Amino acid sequence: MIEIVEVTHTYRVGKETIRVLEIPSLVVGPGERVAVVGPSGSGKSTLIQIIAGLTLPTTGRVIIDGVDIGALGESQRDRLRARRMGLIFQALNLLGGFTALENVLMAAKWSGIKNKFERLQAATALLHRLGLNDRMHVDVRRLSHGEKQRVAIARALVHQPSIVLADEPTASLDSVNKTVVLDELLALVREKGATLVFVTHDTTLLSAFTRVLTLGPGGVVSDRSPVPGE
Ligand SMILES: Nc1ncnc2c1ncn2[C@@H]1O[C@H](COP(=O)(O)OP(=O)(O)OP(=O)(O)O)[C@@H](O)[C@H]1O
Ligand SMILES: [Mg+2]
Repeated sequence: MIEIVEVTHTYRVGKETIRVLEIPSLVVGPGERVAVVGPSGSGKSTLIQIIAGLTLPTTGRVIIDGVDIGALGESQRDRLRARRMGLIFQALNLLGGFTALENVLMAAKWSGIKNKFERLQAATALLHRLGLNDRMHVDVRRLSHGEKQRVAIARALVHQPSIVLADEPTASLDSVNKTVVLDELLALVREKGATLVFVTHDTTLLSAFTRVLTLGPGGVVSDRSPVPGE
């Protein structure tokens, strides 16, 4: 469960301050699938960073599963994120010099899955489902962008997080892989009651979501159910 209460965010650039977000109230419950759309620069990535606790909002509160994350110390926030959240960043942030499988296994370990065999089984099964079974032992620096993107998705989902925050996770995938990735995310929502917040520019995907948040200059402009066939 994600609760946002009176959040605003401003960036300071030189002497100027830019208001990027203004969200009076937003609640996203378990099992909800929310698409976030809006023009470039409207604050979509900032919103994801704020929900993840990577950026603290200028004002207001973000409450994750009942915990006010602004009241936590940095290491407690890191722990909450590693255990409960799956993050897919616009810049994928994979660790070069390690294989696809190693990248996914690291996330599984940080998430608190104690059993090594369980971690290996979850990671290999997921990489297999994402079509990377013959690429999992390759250094991520040698993978194509679409392959890297799927490794980032496996890393975010390996511990079956209760909240998935995905910032344009399908941006450079072909239509087959787009479907594979979206199906994997939706399966987690369906089977585990996870909450999905998914930033996208791709309007063909919107029918898969229960809500669409449209950000415009300065904040949430609208919050609605998608129109069928849109
Ligand atoms: N660290 C920062 N310092 C100053 N301004 C920033 C910073 N990060 C983002 N901004 C500004 O805040 C606004 C929102 O940026 P953000 O990255 O959240 O947009 P976005 O909706 O994700 O865009 P895109 O679709 O291009 O990814 C932009 O005007 C951007 O220039
Ligand atoms: Mg962005």
